[in-house]
Amino acid sequence: MTGGVGFIGSNFINYLLEKESRVHVVNLDLLIYPGGVQNIASLNRQPRHTFAQGDICDSALVGELLKKYAVDTIVNFAAETHVDRSIVEPDQFIKTNVHGTFTLLEEARKYWALAGMRGRFHQISTDEVFGSLNPEEAACTERTPYHPRSPYSASKASADLLAQAYFHTYQMAITLSHCSNNYGPRQFPEKLIPLTIANLLQAQEIPIYGDGLQIRDWLYVEDHCEALYLILRDGQAGESYNIGGENQMTNLELVERICARFDQLRPALKPYRQLIKRVSDRPGHDRRYALAIAKVRQIFQWTPKHGLESGLDKTIQWYLDHLDWLDSILTDAAYLQWVKQNYEFRGQG
Ligand code: NAD
Ligand code: TYD
Repeated sequence: MTGGVGFIGSNFINYLLEKESRVHVVNLDLLIYPGGVQNIASLNRQPRHTFAQGDICDSALVGELLKKYAVDTIVNFAAETHVDRSIVEPDQFIKTNVHGTFTLLEEARKYWALAGMRGRFHQISTDEVFGSLNPEEAACTERTPYHPRSPYSASKASADLLAQAYFHTYQMAITLSHCSNNYGPRQFPEKLIPLTIANLLQAQEIPIYGDGLQIRDWLYVEDHCEALYLILRDGQAGESYNIGGENQMTNLELVERICARFDQLRPALKPYRQLIKRVSDRPGHDRRYALAIAKVRQIFQWTPKHGLESGLDKTIQWYLDHLDWLDSILTDAAYLQWVKQNYEFRGQG
């Protein structure tokens, strides 16, 4: 597994190890974010988890790990993941998301051929590769043509195409999944939901880009993990699968809901929504993402278990229970530097 220290990866490792008693996870992660080590602290004493710090672009290291642990399945979570960062510093997105995925595919191809093994490669992709939808357009299916519009989504789309090419050219057992916006425990507070929670806790303004009427579909991370598990277990080589939360909402409505929950949990003198502040828009901001999930529903009888209310309740509670984790990130020099850089880039510095 790669990127298993990050938000979705760390949730998936916990899910998988609980579900499967014979799986051993080798977790290759570069630890690009502060807080990473804490994300896998609970796995330190887990004998079926081995952490390796390193870069997925490092072919020698990838090849060595595949051989040393006789890896039979790769799930590639590792990526640069924040659209705003991809706009300010696209270079690293191309390196990690494109070249890193290529390196994994190539090293896997060589190792599995040498070992005479039919390994499995699962690429974690995103709804963003399908591009921006209008409010009245139908949700994207697995057959919707790609139309990425940010350096992030273009790099993820490129990685998908490489993975598909390895299926067709080398007959490798490759599967892909596209998920919508995840939320839940351990998400880095640069993304909308944890950023809103972190700012509310500090009584700081919540920046809403543009008119705030952009629509995202929200998927609770545990539901995502369940679908991924089913795809890994029973998915077909060469297939891709949409995993959506069926929770579409405008950013403004979402943030207002979190504010209302804070009004109940931590009443203050003024309603929290007064902290919402419209700021300049993200360049090329995609208006709407939406995924049709009929395929996973039909094949795996999977359906998201969390509505936004229960998912948000669990998420907010996790952050309230882990204020030390949050604090260690919010006071980290590299994080503060990024916040400053992003604000300056957006003309708000
Ligand atoms: P994250 O940023 O929390 O975690 C990514 C992890 O990858 C981090 O631990 C980081 O250290 C690691 N990483 C980055 N560059 C690396 C490199 N060169 N080598 C090794 N490790 C490296 O992201 P996440 O939200 O957990 O996303 C996981 C995957 O899911 C990504 O592929 C992302 O594109 C995809 N995805 C996420 C969402 C979402 O809402 N979070 C939605 C759709 C798709
Ligand atoms: P984000 O969490 O960055 O995910 P993505 O860009 O991958 O969808 O952003 C979710 C939405 O929230 C997106 O439309 C941008 C918007 N947004 C804000 O309005 N303010 C913010 O401070 C952030 C981080 C995002």
